[in-house]
Amino acid sequence: MHRRDFVLGALGAGLASTGSMSLLSPAGMSANAAAAANAVPYGAAIRVDNLESDPDYAAAVRAYCQQVVGEGGLKWFDLRPDRSVFNFDQPDRLIAFADANGMTMRGHTLVWYAALPEWTKEITASEAEFELTHHIEVVVGRYRGRIPNWDVVNEPISEDPAKEGALRDSIWLQALGKGYIELAFRTAAATDPGAQLVLNDFNFEKTTEVCRQRRVAMLDLLKELSDRDVPIHALGLQGHLTGEAEIDKEGLSRFVEEVNGLGLDIYVTELDVIDNNLPAAQGVRDQISALRVRDYLTAICDVVEPKAILTWGISDKYTWVPIWFKRRDGLLNRPLPLDENFQPKAMMQVLQEFTRAGS
Ligand code: G3I
Repeated sequence: MHRRDFVLGALGAGLASTGSMSLLSPAGMSANAAAAANAVPYGAAIRVDNLESDPDYAAAVRAYCQQVVGEGGLKWFDLRPDRSVFNFDQPDRLIAFADANGMTMRGHTLVWYAALPEWTKEITASEAEFELTHHIEVVVGRYRGRIPNWDVVNEPISEDPAKEGALRDSIWLQALGKGYIELAFRTAAATDPGAQLVLNDFNFEKTTEVCRQRRVAMLDLLKELSDRDVPIHALGLQGHLTGEAEIDKEGLSRFVEEVNGLGLDIYVTELDVIDNNLPAAQGVRDQISALRVRDYLTAICDVVEPKAILTWGISDKYTWVPIWFKRRDGLLNRPLPLDENFQPKAMMQVLQEFTRAGS
């Protein structure tokens, strides 16, 4: 059998087993009613400007999401263009939208090697500790009791631990050593003791040696944090899947099981499918992407129910993917569950299977 027939056959069988091929939209349901129908909350990363300028986008978010997270807005280069300034405009607007629509908001992200404003390059090692803790106290403090969970540290594991060492290089690692991770979690916990504190990272799901090494490095880090009683509550699996890459279902399940065994919850935080190397035909592309999402969520949900599943964007109209992974044939990327006209694709049906109660 041709490999593509096998992929599509497997997906078709999976979709058929749900009993309906219709792509049900909960449009018209309030977010609260949708939440009641969901076992696992579904959410998406949001561009708040577009939420205000594009009514169809806002309607889609209202129809499908019980959670939101800013695609930007809480990153250092958005919040702190200047060392002495905190600009809360974007997150304030997003939380107002979330509150008005009965949704919760995740906070992304407090400490990351990227999206740093220029001035951070100038800070000395001795200033780094103050800047890091001050930032967390101000930001988490502002939303205490309102943002119930935070990506405290984002992407701390290096691209290729076998070659580069376990931890990713950053101004924080250089100035404070690996203790920056512990410091960030302890500061966040002291600032909002009620918040769920998450460590968020990507690329654990492929069959490659790099992914295997990344899983080992992450587990070592989590074990060390746990041994030191660091207040960390969950691992966020980003899930930026690569369209042409098989999911290592067994490796991912075992990893999730071990993480859960440390007493940590699991979130799926940034799911989408990078489709620049997938076939041009829309139907084929969408089905392969849906299959990848199905395999990924199956591997996770077979061993633990995630606390939430969020995609990184909701519609192909607004996605980061072409910034790095534009298609060579000039066709639009289709990484998300709704197409550019906000129509649900096969991926949305898969997401609904994994989030709806009784599924
Ligand atoms: O701010 C300008 C804006 O004024 C201008 O209109 C726009 C035009 O292209 O560019 C602007 O900002 C861009 C911003 O996205 C807004 O879309 C930045 O240049 C660009 O670097 C930024 O990229 C974001 C990236 O993180 C860096 O912060 C992506 O949108 C966002 O999807 C991406 O998200 C990351 C997660 O935080 C962590 N995990 C991986 C994920 C995908 O890379």
